[in-house]
Amino acid sequence: MNSLQAKNFLCFSPISFLFYGLAIICLTSTNVSASYDGNETDYLALLSFKSKITHDPYKVLTSWNHSFHFCDWSGISCGKRHKRVNALQLNSQGLEGSLSPHVGNLSFLREISLENNSFQGTIPHELGRLSRLRRLHLNINKFSGVIPTNLSGCSNLKDLWLALNYLSGSIPKEMSLLSKLSRLVIQDNNLTGGMQTFLGNITSMEVFTARRNPFGGSIPDTLGVWKSLTVFYSGDSNLYGRIPHSIFNLSLLVNFSLAENHLSGSLPSEIGSQLPNLELLQSRNNELTGVLPPSLSNCSKLGLLEMGDNNLVGS
Ligand SMILES: *[C@@H]1O[C@H](CO)[C@@H](O)[C@H](O)[C@H]1NC(C)=O
Ligand SMILES: *[C@@H]1O[C@H](CO)[C@@H](O)[C@H](O)[C@H]1NC(C)=O
Ligand SMILES: *[C@@H]1O[C@H](CO)[C@@H](O)[C@H](O)[C@H]1NC(C)=O
Ligand SMILES: *[C@@H]1O[C@H](CO)[C@@H](O)[C@H](O)[C@H]1NC(C)=O
Ligand SMILES: *[C@@H]1O[C@H](CO)[C@@H](O)[C@H](O)[C@H]1NC(C)=O
Ligand SMILES: *[C@@H]1O[C@H](CO)[C@@H](O)[C@H](O)[C@H]1NC(C)=O
Ligand SMILES: *[C@@H]1O[C@H](CO)[C@@H](O)[C@H](O)[C@H]1NC(C)=O
Ligand SMILES: *[C@@H]1O[C@H](CO)[C@@H](O)[C@H](O)[C@H]1NC(C)=O
Ligand SMILES: *[C@@H]1O[C@H](CO)[C@@H](O)[C@H](O)[C@H]1NC(C)=O
Ligand SMILES: *[C@@H]1O[C@H](CO)[C@@H](O)[C@H](O)[C@H]1NC(C)=O
Ligand SMILES: *[C@@H]1O[C@H](CO)[C@@H](O)[C@H](O)[C@H]1NC(C)=O
Repeated sequence: MNSLQAKNFLCFSPISFLFYGLAIICLTSTNVSASYDGNETDYLALLSFKSKITHDPYKVLTSWNHSFHFCDWSGISCGKRHKRVNALQLNSQGLEGSLSPHVGNLSFLREISLENNSFQGTIPHELGRLSRLRRLHLNINKFSGVIPTNLSGCSNLKDLWLALNYLSGSIPKEMSLLSKLSRLVIQDNNLTGGMQTFLGNITSMEVFTARRNPFGGSIPDTLGVWKSLTVFYSGDSNLYGRIPHSIFNLSLLVNFSLAENHLSGSLPSEIGSQLPNLELLQSRNNELTGVLPPSLSNCSKLGLLEMGDNNLVGS
């Protein structure tokens, strides 16, 4: 039921009525308010999102006005039948401001993509209410504060992309409840607290990129249960100790980087047969000892091998 109600109606031309959702608004003294064939809560949440944007250089939010149903606003997608917002996609729009907690009211959301803008402030813990959310893409912004523990409420989350922000604190242990999480992309932040053993509980992990964070600690043995893992980047993460041998059991690994840490110990002689799909292996700038395993010559897809600045012998 699309309807426009013009209050204080002073302009009597018939063209001021609604044609197929497109309103032509009288210029003077006319208050137009829209009631939408949709959910009031979604509408209010989007208005709140807009109200927190302080700069919109490409005027992408201009279309967020009463002339259109919110499902037709740029960056918004809705379900066809229910007209509930299921995606909010505004990548690379130069938006400045904070992310409204009311976004947590968009209960049908499956995707939030706000990459490469200038959102600042914290990631609202209210997002934890979005149980249908599959993708949360917030890379390349200015978010600070911690990763909210409440995100564990997003039980369908597959992608959590928070790279290139100013996030601090540790990865909350509640993340281990995200049984579908497969791509955790958190590089280039200020995360500490080590890579804790609970991470192994996220058995759906396929891509884990955490480089350039001051994590500290060692790599837990429990990551050996990430049987679907294809990409593991944890260079420049202040990691100590040995690389647990369980990692070399992850036969689907394609790209594996641990460059620029303080890792010690040796590489297993059978690495070449254990990780047959390797395309990239980086371990330069560590404290590894022993022999550079000749079996690596059996990794037929290996395109980049960086093992310099260690105490390895062999050729
Ligand atoms: C009409 O619009 C003005 C300014 O936007 C607002 O202050 C006023 O409350 C509105 N009146 C009604 C009856 O909606
Ligand atoms: C809008 O959605 C909220 C949350 O899903 C629900 O509680 C409310 O009843 C809905 N309102 C309408 C008018 O459909
Ligand atoms: C509403 O959005 C349309 C499309 O972006 C734009 O042309 C129009 O000027 C906007 N109207 C108002 C009142 O901002
Ligand atoms: C980020 O967005 C700007 C426009 O605001 C664009 O020029 C730039 O190419 C984008 N960068 C990336 C990495 O997408
Ligand atoms: C939406 O969310 C905000 C903040 O989380 C809350 O205060 C508000 O009551 C919620 N409900 C509606 C219908 O806007
Ligand atoms: C989110 O966090 C707040 C306070 O931190 C708490 O009251 C609320 O119950 C949490 N919600 C979920 C879904 O975890
Ligand atoms: C990183 O976090 C530490 C505290 O954990 C703080 O002292 C430091 O200023 C932060 N650095 C940046 C670049 O935010
Ligand atoms: C991880 O799984 C183990 C074994 O199932 C369980 O004992 C432990 O409590 C889990 N840890 C977290 C943080 O969920
Ligand atoms: C590697 O996997 C095999 C077979 O699943 C298992 O028996 C072995 O204990 C694992 N090795 C390590 C170091 O986890
Ligand atoms: C692995 O690394 C190479 C070289 O950086 C890159 O071209 C390729 O896309 C990466 N593969 C995956 C699965 O990330
Ligand atoms: C390479 O693989 C073949 C077949 O599995 C094996 O016989 C050979 O010893 C391996 N070479 C090295 C250097 O490990």
